[in-house]
Amino acid sequence: MLKGRHLVEPGDLSLGEMEGLFTLAEKIETEDDYLRESCRGKLLAALFFEPSTRTRLSFEAAMMRLGGSCLGFAEPGSSSAVKGESLADTVRMASSYADVIVMRSPKEGAALLASRYSAVPVINAGDGGHHHPTQTLTDLLTIRRLRRSIGGLNVGFCGDLKFGRTVHSLAKALSRYPDMRMVFISPEELRIPDYIGGGILGKAGVPYTETGDLEKVIGGLDVLYMTRVQRERFFNEEDYIRLKDSYILNTEKMALAKKDMIVLHPLPRVNEIAVEVDDDPRAAYFKQAKYGMFVRMALLASVLGITGVGGSLC
Ligand code: NCD
Repeated sequence: MLKGRHLVEPGDLSLGEMEGLFTLAEKIETEDDYLRESCRGKLLAALFFEPSTRTRLSFEAAMMRLGGSCLGFAEPGSSSAVKGESLADTVRMASSYADVIVMRSPKEGAALLASRYSAVPVINAGDGGHHHPTQTLTDLLTIRRLRRSIGGLNVGFCGDLKFGRTVHSLAKALSRYPDMRMVFISPEELRIPDYIGGGILGKAGVPYTETGDLEKVIGGLDVLYMTRVQRERFFNEEDYIRLKDSYILNTEKMALAKKDMIVLHPLPRVNEIAVEVDDDPRAAYFKQAKYGMFVRMALLASVLGITGVGGSLC
């Protein structure tokens, strides 16, 4: 049961619990009224200390579609953080007003800290360059939907693999599925951190390679996960400008890829996928964004104890 549980990183959920959430998300998507109004009277506090479009809107839409309500702030400037209030105090207070907290912070470890002070479930909506577990649920659900199962896939991650938290979370989660292979495509300066490569993947026995050349490897991929260069995490603008257009996926590169490869991107996209690729049937990033709301509905209903994870109502 997920009732009352925090979600700080993907490893907080077992594979069975994730499967339960995906089944529930699909039921919510296909059965119009399923779980509608089930969270009436429940409140979600969205504490966003960093910008967000999709994650915050999809969480708020998810809660409202379940019949609940939302409060919170979308930028730290409008919270007491600017007066020097600690995260621990903000979270203690929010957890006495709301039934679930969704938070995003530029600081690695912020969600874990918050979970220690909160009386209600804390869901990590991104902590610095560390983790983003609900984006991972979204990504896994999309792969499961479009490739039928997760496992036996060659997944390429391309772009800012150093700072991209969605990459860190997804690589970690995928390493738990059978027979996976990974290719990390990045400039030298933005390589995947060792704690993911040699660390997590090494321990799980997942074969992986690193390269700077997308064209060389794209033909062998089943999934290509594109990411933007994370400007806000750079120490200087010059490095960002030098690296920002390292990879641009266009129709020429797509012509080298398998007919059934899918292209994912957590969004927002900047330049790394040319708009011309949007019309390619393999471009799945807008579908991916849509699935994000359904899996967040499933997660909220589960941590609030409205439904057992397998989909049966309690
Ligand atoms: C991502 C994030 O915030 O890490 N966005 C999102 O939540 N969909 C990716 C990004 O900002 O590049």
